[in-house]
Amino acid sequence: MTSTPLPFGSEHFGFDTDQVHAGERIGDGYGARVTPIFLTAGFVFDSFDHARDRFAGHDGAWTYSRVGNPTNVVVEDRLTALEHGVGSLLVGSGQAAITVAMLGILKAGDHFLATQSLYEGTKTLFRENFVRFGIEVEFVDDPHDLAEWHRRLRPSTRAVFAESIPNPKNDLIDFDLVAGFARDAGVPFIVDSTAATPYLLRPLDHGASVVVHSASKFLSGHGASLAGVIVDGGTFEWARYPQKFPQFSAPLAGQEGDSMVTRFGRRAFIEYARTVIAARLGPVLSPVNAFLLLQGLETLSLRVERHSRTALAVAEWLEKQPEVESVDYPGLASSPHRALAERYLPRGAGSVFGFTLAGGIDDARTLIDSVELFSRMTHMGDVRSMILHPGTTSHAQVSAADRARFGIDDGLVRLSVGIEDEADLIADLDRAFAAVRASRVLAATV
Ligand SMILES: Cc1ncc(COP(=O)(O)O)c(C=O)c1O
Repeated sequence: MTSTPLPFGSEHFGFDTDQVHAGERIGDGYGARVTPIFLTAGFVFDSFDHARDRFAGHDGAWTYSRVGNPTNVVVEDRLTALEHGVGSLLVGSGQAAITVAMLGILKAGDHFLATQSLYEGTKTLFRENFVRFGIEVEFVDDPHDLAEWHRRLRPSTRAVFAESIPNPKNDLIDFDLVAGFARDAGVPFIVDSTAATPYLLRPLDHGASVVVHSASKFLSGHGASLAGVIVDGGTFEWARYPQKFPQFSAPLAGQEGDSMVTRFGRRAFIEYARTVIAARLGPVLSPVNAFLLLQGLETLSLRVERHSRTALAVAEWLEKQPEVESVDYPGLASSPHRALAERYLPRGAGSVFGFTLAGGIDDARTLIDSVELFSRMTHMGDVRSMILHPGTTSHAQVSAADRARFGIDDGLVRLSVGIEDEADLIADLDRAFAAVRASRVLAATV
């Protein structure tokens, strides 16, 4: 297979074309039109010198699949094009993407700031695992308060982390404000954009330095496999801060030669993440899962457009139900985040959101037990619609006081709206709400 990409992937094409063609290579020897699955641990060297050159990285080709694989590189290049980055790295899951990206930047003794409203798995990773590496996280309560960001800034602060559409509360950040703060503080801004996908929002166009995704969700789209990706924006000037980020400006520990910035320029971060972090810690993505991700990517815009349109209709319907206290969907005219959604999410406000039932946990239980089309699942961004009670599942280990503080009320129900018919989804919820009403009548009569 030639490693020369087709001209696709340049800025000359639109999103729909890039999602089908960017990064594709031809010439597998058999004329396969679809990217083949190169299921091989390693790659043959033609000669002694060939092996030496490949290890030196002189011919840009393959050595071993823990470092790079020809199936995976097509997906990486496609995601680079879709996110407007300079390079990408596939890893085994969204959690692996966050871990590898952050460990590429942070070391023991460093501190970083993150928004409070994040996927709970990320918060526990930062709070419980990173602290054991000597890396300290501090959560910012009000991401709109620039003074709070500055108040929490320390000489050891090395990164800012946020989600583009926070899971599950959808309380959007102001990218200009947070990116501006990170820029002034001289630290990279890392954004988990799982719930937005590059179709709805490209964080790199709004001042982010690095984007991560759980590609298990919308990017794959069909719920068959886990995957994660890191995309490097190539804009953060690592060499400007050699004391803060010596891994990019000095030769690697125990090695001779040029620094990552000298060797790779704007791609220094992603090359470091690939060769020094991911290849050594080992959370690589199987080419089989990369292939599944590629199948999903080819229809990303079509699915996400439909997901968002249907989610808005479901949110508007939910808002009218007397049993519903509030709906956390930023696309709603009534949402406090509507102005930010209009500014940053003009193509749609996503499709994973919560709503709160006034009747608390009893109503949540009846509703969730009564749906037939929605799947009771902890997952999101799948073509299938899903429903979950965060308070007793994803946030069960969070203290009651913190649940109350972060709006994870007993009546909170999270939906991931799929691509089924809008009328069928609303009918399913309507039946479940009827069951809630019936259970209330029953409770009032006993
Ligand atoms: C916003 C967000 N980031 C990261 C993850 C972790 O992704 P994965 O399950 O692929 O490890 C999730 C999982 O739900 C998520 O919602």
